[in-house]
Amino acid sequence: MNETFALRGLIIDTPDIGAVRARQGFLVCEDGKVAGFFGALPGRYAGIPVADCGEHLILPGMSDLHLHAPQYSYCGTAMDLQLIDWLERYTYPEEARFADPEHARAYYAVFTRDLLHTATTRAAIFATLHTDATLELMRQLDQSGLGAFVGKLSMDRNCPKDYSEHTPENGEAETRRWLEACREAGFARVHPILTPRFTPSVSDAYMEKLGQLAREYGVPMQSHLSESLSEIEWVKSLCPDAKTYADTYARCGLFGGDCPTIMAHCIYCPEEENRMMKDGHVFIAHCPTSNENVIAGIAPAARYLRQGYEIGLGSDVAGGHTLDLFAVMAAAVQVSKLRWCCVDPGEKPLTLPEALYMATAGGGRFFGKVGLFEPGYAFDAVVIDDSANRNLRVFSPMERIERCAYLGGAKVAAKFVDGRKVL
Ligand code: GUN
Ligand code: FE
Repeated sequence: MNETFALRGLIIDTPDIGAVRARQGFLVCEDGKVAGFFGALPGRYAGIPVADCGEHLILPGMSDLHLHAPQYSYCGTAMDLQLIDWLERYTYPEEARFADPEHARAYYAVFTRDLLHTATTRAAIFATLHTDATLELMRQLDQSGLGAFVGKLSMDRNCPKDYSEHTPENGEAETRRWLEACREAGFARVHPILTPRFTPSVSDAYMEKLGQLAREYGVPMQSHLSESLSEIEWVKSLCPDAKTYADTYARCGLFGGDCPTIMAHCIYCPEEENRMMKDGHVFIAHCPTSNENVIAGIAPAARYLRQGYEIGLGSDVAGGHTLDLFAVMAAAVQVSKLRWCCVDPGEKPLTLPEALYMATAGGGRFFGKVGLFEPGYAFDAVVIDDSANRNLRVFSPMERIERCAYLGGAKVAAKFVDGRKVL
């Protein structure tokens, strides 16, 4: 059982899309949950431990809805190719190396350590094809205290011979072995999520089997959708019977509804796919740094957010070049301006409060009651030391967050997940 305690200081969250709430006072944690915000500590809490956060900012822990842990090793390099060539030239060879357990242990230790030092408290993560390496990543994340959904990748076509599950039967057997091992392991905050890489890598028969596993084990799924035009054309030729790209997942029961789903990118979705995402409460992982780097296009994130879709931010490392969701927030605003100027003058750019909403409350919803400082929400909080950004001018709380997004300089001084101090 967690102890009851409070953080004292400047407490900021986004109770609504575009709305920022900055309050000076006490945020009380009871049994791992937010008990409430109080300007002055009520008598019933007299004597509980209070951590004074001084001048720091206290924000909800952020949720990264999409990233690739094995790609962290080459993050910030290999930015000269577009999606499909980039996958073949850089990604597959690097991911294949995780067949070696020693390699996996060492590289995932670096990844986990660095993720722990960001503002992210929850993440939806792609691993590799390798069951044992994926379990190693899950163990390390669970030990760190972070919350995560982690997926063993599924791939049985259009991939290198030494980085493929080869047949639907073999893929299903490995995925089942992994799901059973996850049950055995009994992780505290780390859970499995089915992860067909994207339709071009997964045969119809394997996708069908993944749908059956989703129902049998009651697990969610994550994948990529409509990221680049050449990918969409490829899917059309691979699956001529499917009504849309989204239908290649949906016809197997892998697109929202009873199967909670995250789709990364959703840049070129036709109206029919949008309707399916809205009806099925599919979460869109908007990955603006990846939009810039993989040069695939700019997702209509402002429209999705304002029209009531489920949407959060993803770092998409290593298509995205940073784990830091502050930087991803700035990129979300920046690429939304490019979209407004160059693609759709009807879609007004995102504001930074909207980007903060996506990084916290928006993405947090995939993990349950996460991302807000309301009673009953998970006590996920980050204490941010932004003293590196100080100058002679006085900045509002939102301006301080904006400077963290644009300048960097946000040092995570403390971090809590479900009320547990993990940093
Ligand atoms: N589509 C299929 N795999 C990937 C990947 O690893 N990164 C990105 N950005 N898109 C993908
Ligand atoms: Fe991705």
